[in-house]
Amino acid sequence: MAKIAYTLPVTHVEHYTESYFRFRIKRPRGFRFTSGQFIMLGLMIDDKPVMRAYSMASPHWDEELEFYSIIVQDGELTSRLQHIKVGDEIIMSGKPVGTLTLRSLSGGGKRLFMLSTGTGVAPFTSLIRDEDTYERYDEIYLTQTCRQIKDLQYAQQRIEEAKNCPLVGEDAQKKLHFYGSVTREPYEREGRITDLIESGKLFEDLGISGLNPETDRVMICGSMDMLKDTRVILDAQGLSKGSGHKPAHYMWEKAFTG
Ligand code: A2P
Repeated sequence: MAKIAYTLPVTHVEHYTESYFRFRIKRPRGFRFTSGQFIMLGLMIDDKPVMRAYSMASPHWDEELEFYSIIVQDGELTSRLQHIKVGDEIIMSGKPVGTLTLRSLSGGGKRLFMLSTGTGVAPFTSLIRDEDTYERYDEIYLTQTCRQIKDLQYAQQRIEEAKNCPLVGEDAQKKLHFYGSVTREPYEREGRITDLIESGKLFEDLGISGLNPETDRVMICGSMDMLKDTRVILDAQGLSKGSGHKPAHYMWEKAFTG
């Protein structure tokens, strides 16, 4: 169990669907993290801490911390967390960790692909508002696959926020592209990201060339199955996977649930 370092008040809650919401909390003084990292957070339930890993969905320079959460009705934490209100208290550990950081990818890339499903988009909504992302890459493609169109709202809002951001807005307007696809209802962009990469439709729709290890770096965040299936595809395209602290063409992390 992670050690509780902070107890912090909720400053904002916004529900998008019956399954997804975001919340913001006060940022403790002196708390530093790298965009793309995660932390343990949760609630005191019956006098016991219940904590889960959550990616910071806000950039490293934001005055508050933002998180994007799924709601699982019988989940130990999110069944309660879904009811939090402004002023309620969140408990949080003190040490951010994680591999979905710019430093974990090898240099020389021109295009950055961030592939996500569901709440796996959270580390990427942090990275799209980090000035370093735009310094390192000429083209940034954020993809999110969800079941339904309404599940894409959070990411769409964050894209707008990045494009209107005083710090990265100008770069985001030129370099940032969002590709949201859905799997359980008709939509202009239908299908799992794995299938869209394999069929080439993703690249066709975006009007760009396919994956190339010379120019491309990839971050993946989703369910275990999504990670596994995506990695098979990337390996077949000649991209090398990261391990430990060695930078590579691609890096992945499991999206957290429950
Ligand atoms: P699908 O509807 O075909 O299962 P979930 O809501 O279960 O977390 O899933 C989020 C999205 O991730 C869904 O659109 C789902 O598609 C997709 N998905 C699930 N498994 C995989 C996988 N192995 N590879 C790619 N996408 C996946």
